[in-house]
Amino acid sequence: PIIYAITPTYARAVQKAELTRLSHTMMLVPNLHWVIVEDAESPSTLVSNLLKNSGITYTHLTAATPQEWKLPGKQGEQWKKPRGVLQRNTALQWLRNNLNADQDQGIIYFADDDNSYSLELFEEMRDTQVVSVWPVGLVGGIMVEKPLLNPKTGRVTGWNSVWSPNRPFPVDMAGFAINLGHFLRHPEAKFSFEAPRGHQESVILGHLTTRAQLEPKADNCTKVYVWHTRTEIPNLKYEEKLIKRGERTDEGMEV
Ligand code: UGA
Ligand code: MN
Repeated sequence: PIIYAITPTYARAVQKAELTRLSHTMMLVPNLHWVIVEDAESPSTLVSNLLKNSGITYTHLTAATPQEWKLPGKQGEQWKKPRGVLQRNTALQWLRNNLNADQDQGIIYFADDDNSYSLELFEEMRDTQVVSVWPVGLVGGIMVEKPLLNPKTGRVTGWNSVWSPNRPFPVDMAGFAINLGHFLRHPEAKFSFEAPRGHQESVILGHLTTRAQLEPKADNCTKVYVWHTRTEIPNLKYEEKLIKRGERTDEGMEV
């Protein structure tokens, strides 16, 4: 099966660094189709060239977040609005329009542009029948957020999550994959701006599966193959001073 990795991305100082790092991981994954969705009105040259030069099989889409759902400019208030909702839904609609439940074998994975991925992760998810789950490092305020298994049956009974543990699926976006055919047979499965904070994962999974049905991966959820890393916002205070004087260090250069 082909892994359809869905990545929302948006323009900011670190975008090229993030996408370079991620594309160099994606290049090493066999049978991968990268669906990258820019949070913008039209495709940027930065993302277009990066994809073209990568040699990866890809689809390049755009979907601009409507003004009322844009992140507040204030630092530290980012969590107040959901991120990547419209972009992921745009990618999911592309899959519905272009693939067929009877013919196409695939796996859907939501790969944010700032996380860190081990190649083992992609092989773990490749035989997902409905929805598979695994641990995610460095998320939810703990070292590792992971599914808890019943030792007798090996089935998922819950998660060790501490932040908002009463969510139907208290799991990060990086912690699960979906079988493509199963997804295509559930036309109602999508994300929603209306969901409470941290409930995006529960919204889509609620359309597709139950806890008891989940397929644990990564050695019965004892290994960490993905980390919810977040990149520090760079200090550009001197660049801003230069810009006020009508100068800039990246004139004619893509950084
Ligand atoms: C956590 C989860 O890991 C995300 O999958 C989830 O979307 C988010 O919370 C949420 O609650 O909405 P976090 O690291 O805080 O993630 O989110 P970001 O990595 O900043 O954003 C998730 C994705 O959306 C990234 O791929 C990012 O490039 C993209 N994004 C972010 C946009 O396309 N537009 C934006 O304005 C911001
Ligand atoms: Mn992130």
